[in-house]
Amino acid sequence: MSSLGYFKLLVLLCALLILSVESRKTQLQNTINDVESSDDGAKGKRWAVLVAGSYQYSNYRHQADICHAYQILRKGGIKAENIIVFMYDDIAFSPENPRPGVIINEPNGDDVYKGVPKDYTGVDVNVKNFFNVLLGNESGVTGGTGRVLDSGPNDNVFIYYADHGAPGLLAMIEEDLLAKDFIKVLEKMHQQKSYKKMVIYVEACEAGSMFQGILKNNLNILAVTASNATESSYGVYCPGSYPSPPSEYYICLGDAFSISWLEDSELHDMTKETLKQQYKVAKRRAGSDLEYTSHVCHFGSEEIFNDYLASYIGSNPENVNFTSVGLTSSPISNSNLVNTRDIPLLYLKRKIQNSPMESLERQEAEKKLFEKMNHRKQIDQNIIEILRLSVKQSNVANLLTSTRTAEESLVDDWDCFTTLVNSFKNHCGATMDYGLKYTGALANLCNMGVDVKQTISAIEQACSIK
Ligand SMILES: *[C@@H]1O[C@H](CO)[C@@H](O)[C@H](O)[C@H]1NC(C)=O
Ligand SMILES: *[C@@H]1O[C@H](CO)[C@@H](O)[C@H](O)[C@H]1NC(C)=O
Ligand SMILES: *[C@@H]1O[C@H](CO)[C@@H](O)[C@H](O)[C@H]1NC(C)=O
Repeated sequence: MSSLGYFKLLVLLCALLILSVESRKTQLQNTINDVESSDDGAKGKRWAVLVAGSYQYSNYRHQADICHAYQILRKGGIKAENIIVFMYDDIAFSPENPRPGVIINEPNGDDVYKGVPKDYTGVDVNVKNFFNVLLGNESGVTGGTGRVLDSGPNDNVFIYYADHGAPGLLAMIEEDLLAKDFIKVLEKMHQQKSYKKMVIYVEACEAGSMFQGILKNNLNILAVTASNATESSYGVYCPGSYPSPPSEYYICLGDAFSISWLEDSELHDMTKETLKQQYKVAKRRAGSDLEYTSHVCHFGSEEIFNDYLASYIGSNPENVNFTSVGLTSSPISNSNLVNTRDIPLLYLKRKIQNSPMESLERQEAEKKLFEKMNHRKQIDQNIIEILRLSVKQSNVANLLTSTRTAEESLVDDWDCFTTLVNSFKNHCGATMDYGLKYTGALANLCNMGVDVKQTISAIEQACSIK
């Protein structure tokens, strides 16, 4: 070939190279644009509702998880006007917070509190407001900024909820969020065509019970939960574990499922990672292969698993070069996970250890710890007694947790369930902290068709014995 021939070939090769780079560029642009547009070509938006349902400093981690998620969504390009945040907002400026005005979610993490909007705070973090926000019902919300979802049939909705839970319910400051009520709201949203697809992440104990057997597969909703219907969830970055928070923190900075998906999202290219991939990462990292930890579970429309995460939580353009899925983070070991229900005790123990000998602070923490331990023992006995009186036999160990299979709803008669749960709270002082872990046992009673009035008498009787 003549040198002119070589030259022509070279020019051709260069042109091809440039073309291919250009086409890759457009391809990249397309993926990102596609995220905002829906499959039928009409423009769709991404919406998010972030909820920390707890309060009090010992529950630091829930608000930390939610704030962290907000930062990730914003960096991922989700518009501020499309994100609604619920959090009590008593952590950042709590007198117990060693860094006033700052919340961290990882031992060496940045402040995640800065810039988080305060749509619903304090007692405005309630079930009625949450439901009306989801339903886009402006006249139904009280307090707060009054912002509600304004999403339509082409839009994707992402809900992330971090809080205490118990079989059949999630906590909210003053009132519980019942599984069957939540499902009803989701079904109504589907009827109203207020979303195209929805992804729900729930960090809580027994979180699977919010969806198991009751979330239908045909609503275009995928729910991923930190735990199955009958087990606790776990806190991480706790005092005494590795890595631990800075020594001045007596609380856990995060939750196992939550930090698994948050840290994965923070690092990787969400335009190339599917929900299924992240589910696997979170399941593995949160320790589902270990015997005594929780199982990350999923419910609802499995086909959503094939979607890229960017369609729900956005994608930080700075992460384009981290295309691999975050399988590099190894499972959190048992010794670095703390059962959520033990975190309040851990907090008080740390406080006692770190307060001066004769200080009022120390005495108060000692008193609280003593009371909490006694109350736990009491509730453990109460529930056995309630079951014995209700089923009129002495061996009731098999009824202590829900006996339902993985496909069944925890309970069929939700009115019976709600009545018994309220009675258990009122007469036995059961709280989200610990006692309400036994609501699965109350569900069993309802499933056996007990007489509700007689069971309430049994609850009153069992809990009047001190
Ligand atoms: C909005 O909420 C109010 C108050 O809860 C309720 O009366 C009304 O029916 C709701 N509207 C819609 C459209 O759901
Ligand atoms: C990604 O890698 C390319 C090629 O090495 C580089 O030019 C680009 O700056 C990187 N992008 C980011 C956001 O780091
Ligand atoms: C739920 O978790 C518990 C405790 O970790 C385990 O024994 C049980 O088999 C799990 N159930 C399902 C349906 O995964």
